[in-house]
Amino acid sequence: MSKNATVITYGCQMNVNESAKIRKIMEDIGYDITENINESDVVFLNTCTVREGAATQIYGKLGELKQARDARGTKIIITGCFAQEQGRKLLQKFPYIDIIMGNQNISKIPEAIEKIERAQELKEAGKLRDKKLKHVVLTGYDDELPPRIDADFDNDITASMTIGYGCNNFCTYCIVPYVRGREKYIPMEQLVNQAKEYVKKGYKEIMLLAQNVNSYGKGLSENETFANLLQALADIEGDFLIRFISPHPRDFTDDVIDAIAKNSKIARSVHVPLQSGSTKVLKDMNRGYTKEQYLNLVNKLKSRIPDVAVTTDIIVGFPGETEEEFEDTLDVVRQAKYDTAFMFMYSIRTGTKAAEMEGQIEDKVKKDRLHRLISLQTEISGELSNEYQGKIERVLVEGPSRKNKEMLSSRTSSNKVVLFKGDSSLRGQFVNVKINECRTWTLYGELVD
Ligand code: SAH
Ligand code: SF4
Ligand code: F3S
Repeated sequence: MSKNATVITYGCQMNVNESAKIRKIMEDIGYDITENINESDVVFLNTCTVREGAATQIYGKLGELKQARDARGTKIIITGCFAQEQGRKLLQKFPYIDIIMGNQNISKIPEAIEKIERAQELKEAGKLRDKKLKHVVLTGYDDELPPRIDADFDNDITASMTIGYGCNNFCTYCIVPYVRGREKYIPMEQLVNQAKEYVKKGYKEIMLLAQNVNSYGKGLSENETFANLLQALADIEGDFLIRFISPHPRDFTDDVIDAIAKNSKIARSVHVPLQSGSTKVLKDMNRGYTKEQYLNLVNKLKSRIPDVAVTTDIIVGFPGETEEEFEDTLDVVRQAKYDTAFMFMYSIRTGTKAAEMEGQIEDKVKKDRLHRLISLQTEISGELSNEYQGKIERVLVEGPSRKNKEMLSSRTSSNKVVLFKGDSSLRGQFVNVKINECRTWTLYGELVD
């Protein structure tokens, strides 16, 4: 009888990418992938720990999984950053978890499952000396790069490609460097070859992933820089788009801006995480730039790359943030005119520097600031959306819209969602659409030649 596995993903694109790899590993050892945990023999929770809310969600899910385990002996495997951070500690609360591992260890999944199965067989035969169920906990680091696993991704249009692992920045609020280890980058030749394969297979979008994409090349040869990588990828023949997340404003060198400007294959959407608009708060966050340097960078991007859409991440209520400092953030938001922004209330992460800082802000103040920030950004997103009125945009068709089955959903190079009527055979193609109606988050248009 065939066995089923489910992978549930939390967190960022890196986890999405690693979930695809986990699915591939499971398929390779004979499992079918299902989304229904009630018919699953193995359920993976691929977890995040960047903010507190992530843990609450995972605890809820683990409760649900206990029932599946009791009903049909489903194995429970917890991978990702929360697993890496908590390690064995998780077993105190959830002794029914079988395997706990950080994502640098996912290639060891088959071995780990085998161990658990052997322990179960012994237990059933009454031969397990230790009556307790065995667990496998793998949260160690290798200095080496994790083995490359060529996964088929969630869809056949976008392939995501990890160009580096880890982070050396230690922004004072952030847990990522503690759970993802130090920066390591993949040699350029390997990445270019992999990208060529993806283009040959018909992928239309290549998403480059790293915690800090534009420090690509640390530890590699002099020529292996992010700008050179972008250029080499843009030189690959074929019709496709290159996207990347996330760059760090401090490392956004002119050669990278030039590479984007020169190559229309590089998407006109650049994520430039602000975090705060106050130079004082930025310093406390250890971000390595000032308000003015940040604004200069955004201005440079906008002047050298016409039609570029800038997006960002912002944290409100960092320890010690005054009303005035928060208003600096609003000021940058007004000047930078982001297409969209991911906006968060500061969330305390044990083990980070900011967790120890004085002046932790109460929830009420954080909520109020977040609310004001979101209203301002929504207004700006609406204004920018209106600028598309009447324009003809080249879009990549992703398939029928989830909300409105009559329409096809697509995205512009600037990452704006465009819905239009058309045949589903257009999926995976670039087409031209004339924009007739602009709503804040979605544009509506019609197919043109
Ligand atoms: N390496 C990427 C992603 C980091 S995590 C980058 O540097 O852009 C994604 C976002 O989560 C961050 O940009 C930040 O805005 C937010 N974040 C990280 N730690 C946080 C915390 N402790 N509280 C609230 N938001 C946080
Ligand atoms: Fe976290 Fe900063 Fe590294 Fe991003 S750059 S992962 S915010 S420490
Ligand atoms: Fe979360 Fe880990 Fe990504 S903490 S945001 S899944 S790197």
